[in-house]
Amino acid sequence: MDINSVNIEEIVKQVLAGMADSAGPETAGGAGEVPKTAHVAMLTALGHFEVKEYPIPEVGDDDILVKVEGTGICGTDQHEFKKDPFGLIPVALGHEGTGTVVKLGRNVKKDSAGKPLKVGDKLVTCMIFQDDPEITMFDLNKQNVGAADVYGLLPDDDIHLNGWFADYILIKGSRGSTYFNVSDMDLKSRILIEPAAVLVHAVERAKTTGILRFNSRVAVQGCGPIGLLCIAVLRTLGINNITAVDGNEQRLAFAKKMGADQTVNFMNHKGIDALSGAVRESFGGHLADFAFQCTGSPAAHSNIYHFIRNGGGLCELGFFINNGEATINPHFDLCAKEINLVGSWVYTLRDYMTTFDFLKRAKAIGLPVTELITDCFPLEKINEAHEFALAQKGLKVAITNVALDGSTNNH
Ligand SMILES: NC(=O)c1ccc[n+]([C@@H]2O[C@H](COP(=O)([O-])OP(=O)(O)OC[C@H]3O[C@@H](n4cnc5c(N)ncnc54)[C@H](O)[C@@H]3O)[C@@H](O)[C@H]2O)c1
Repeated sequence: MDINSVNIEEIVKQVLAGMADSAGPETAGGAGEVPKTAHVAMLTALGHFEVKEYPIPEVGDDDILVKVEGTGICGTDQHEFKKDPFGLIPVALGHEGTGTVVKLGRNVKKDSAGKPLKVGDKLVTCMIFQDDPEITMFDLNKQNVGAADVYGLLPDDDIHLNGWFADYILIKGSRGSTYFNVSDMDLKSRILIEPAAVLVHAVERAKTTGILRFNSRVAVQGCGPIGLLCIAVLRTLGINNITAVDGNEQRLAFAKKMGADQTVNFMNHKGIDALSGAVRESFGGHLADFAFQCTGSPAAHSNIYHFIRNGGGLCELGFFINNGEATINPHFDLCAKEINLVGSWVYTLRDYMTTFDFLKRAKAIGLPVTELITDCFPLEKINEAHEFALAQKGLKVAITNVALDGSTNNH
């Protein structure tokens, strides 16, 4: 390459910009000028977000200001939008978010895993604060959990920059928040870290039964984003006899792309005996060794015992919230079959960190995990986006401040 005067001028500019970046905190760096106010989507009433404008405060010594790129809509956001089961309104939501660090407090040099962090890096936050196997979920009642620690789920103090459905979010490092530098991952993968961590945890829970092995026959009931990610995690682990069960043919087709070997459309089989027979047939005349329940439907919980062999295992992870009671026959379904049942809720901090590798490995073996994000909406269309997601028109719907690639419907 010829080094001419223009090149030299450009190189000098870059070196000077680099020096400015390393000059300490409060430096916007390459991420553009930071405005005085941020736009935050506050859920102010059932079924209604209002995009409000709040001042961006001075960034404290332990804090991080992030310019949001995109945030997935989770089932929990939808539950809040529709019913506010946790009584949180008014609240800034959005916890499946990622963006670019634009200001760093002078004490912040590393992320929660010890990886160096600088302005311009890509960041995600995690709801879990300590690497403690006893802390398997965020506990809304835990004394040591300050409101502003949980981004996008709990109301905060008066700053309001604590949800990812926004254009800026302020990470308060002094409150023990956990955050990770994931600059080596593409935007869609970063948006999928949080839901994928739910499945890394569910599979870890399943492994505690000792039943899940390379050659296990595994049934996954429910092929929304959660069930589909479950299939991808299983496939990435090397399990290759998976039957996906759902009533939606498009979702079942996607399940095959994610690594399911067989599919069963429950709508085509009337009565539990016929349905159980279809699952048995899918495994060449055997019931499943292990099953994952990935719907929030009580009827689906009752059904799934009929898909599992005697001595098999079940991981129930579909009831993130209270969706009502399910009827089972404890004698026939549990005792007489000696079913090994585990429940799974959210994830541990370690599972969350494992998920970074899972997503890279899934991509490396050709699983189209990022295609799960089918639709994205700008912040100002957040109400429309939630209605769209609730109507199950896409798979994973995201709120984005930048357009996603051409495989996504940009609304
Ligand atoms: N354990 C956790 O920590 C955790 C975390 C996130 C979400 N969840 C829960 O997981 C569940 C699934 O999440 P999602 O985002 O994939 O939801 P979703 O609504 O997009 O998908 C559910 C799927 O289940 C299918 N389904 C419904 N009834 C069925 C039945 N009887 N048999 C087979 N399939 C049936 C639907 O067709 C749909 O495709 C939700 O209830 C959610 O609350 C749990």
